[in-house]
Amino acid sequence: MLLWVREELCREGNWAAWNTCYSENKSHFGRHELGFRFTLDLLLEQFSRRAVRVLEIGCGQGYIMESLYEQFSRNWSAPQKEESRFVGLDASEAAIIQSDDRVPECYWIADELQRFLTHPLAAYWQGEFDLIFSMGGFTYIKAEEECRKCAKGLKALLKPRGMFTYFISEGYYRDKWTPKFCKGWSVDQLEIFRQEFGREENRDLSAYIRRIYHNDVPMPADRPDL
Ligand SMILES: C[S@@+](CC[C@H](N)C(=O)[O-])C[C@H]1O[C@@H](n2cnc3c(N)ncnc32)[C@H](O)[C@@H]1O
Repeated sequence: MLLWVREELCREGNWAAWNTCYSENKSHFGRHELGFRFTLDLLLEQFSRRAVRVLEIGCGQGYIMESLYEQFSRNWSAPQKEESRFVGLDASEAAIIQSDDRVPECYWIADELQRFLTHPLAAYWQGEFDLIFSMGGFTYIKAEEECRKCAKGLKALLKPRGMFTYFISEGYYRDKWTPKFCKGWSVDQLEIFRQEFGREENRDLSAYIRRIYHNDVPMPADRPDL
């Protein structure tokens, strides 16, 4: 279901470019297997027996959300189905409309994260989500202060024991993202997330995975002794 589209975004530089790119290729990024598996395992491990509310930031054409929804909802009971929410947000309207056409069971929002956080829906969703995740979906947050505001805004959308995870290709992050966008920042984007959500890191061969607890209290299944 399409929840909200900020239509003026289609005419703005960055987003117009993403719209063109997604319109020309219906599967521009496909599904990042490593990040998808990580998020799916996390959901199954933590939430397989209860309803779950998930928000993805910068979901692009929604392939990760679609796969998560399909695999996770397979064994839902009626109350779990009723209570659960899978919400994808991206500033590209073209990508969001494609996502909604393929998976109307999920909720879709076409907006820039920074602006969406001031939308009444964001106020309504305070403390709503069990998991907020993103795979390289924070690429257009240019100012450090703006990034801090987004991190705070996202934290407010989490339930008290909710989780935030950020996944980005290490090569992209180290070689392109940081030098290109973080010029003049006192710390980089990941450090801002770390400061807001707490810290836990996992390294893999080609990926940098952030798994962060809202209040730094690991859930039982995450304690290394279990
Ligand atoms: C590198 S793509 C990744 C897309 C998707 N997460 C994936 O892995 O296939 C980055 C996406 O994030 C979106 N994006 C970047 N910054 C954003 C922001 N500040 N607000 C909303 N969407 C944003 C872009 O429109 C784009 O679709």
